[in-house]
Amino acid sequence: MMNERKVDRRRWMHKVQVMFGRPGLCRRPLIALLIAVPTVIVLQVATAADYFNGREVYDTFCQSCHGADGRSMTPGTPDFSNGDGMFRPDSDLFAGIRQGKGVMPAFRGMLSDEEIRDVIAYVRSLQK
Ligand code: HEC
Repeated sequence: MMNERKVDRRRWMHKVQVMFGRPGLCRRPLIALLIAVPTVIVLQVATAADYFNGREVYDTFCQSCHGADGRSMTPGTPDFSNGDGMFRPDSDLFAGIRQGKGVMPAFRGMLSDEEIRDVIAYVRSLQK
């Protein structure tokens, strides 16, 4: 004789199997996807440039020459609000900020790679 609980459990299992199919090979991709998607999202958030940190870096190290809103008062300095010098990939800007150019000092050793990535995200946001 089966008791009530066992019958209930069998019915429940049956319902689940009708809804999702029997566990087997064909469900593995679905399970993999359920794990992979949140993982990718979490990783992207963790490695995305931090705009707010970028603003702090900018205000501390860049504003004096490039202006609070990216509009410089000094001739020869690119106007970020116009998008001057921004039509380039991040890797180019990254190298430029590390090495410095003309009057602009090199920030290699002064800013971490992460801070440079953050400040690039902020500088890009200054374009009107
Ligand atoms: C001492 C003044 C000064 C400071 C401080 C300064 N810059 Fe500049 N920056 C300049 C000048 C001048 C240029 C134009 C250089 C040239 O083309 O000869 C420039 C150019 C640039 C360019 C374009 C580079 C290129 O390859 O054309 C970027 C991007 C930039 N600055 C970002 C920054 C960031 C980010 C900071 C802060 C971390 C910063 N700058 C700090 C003066 C400065």
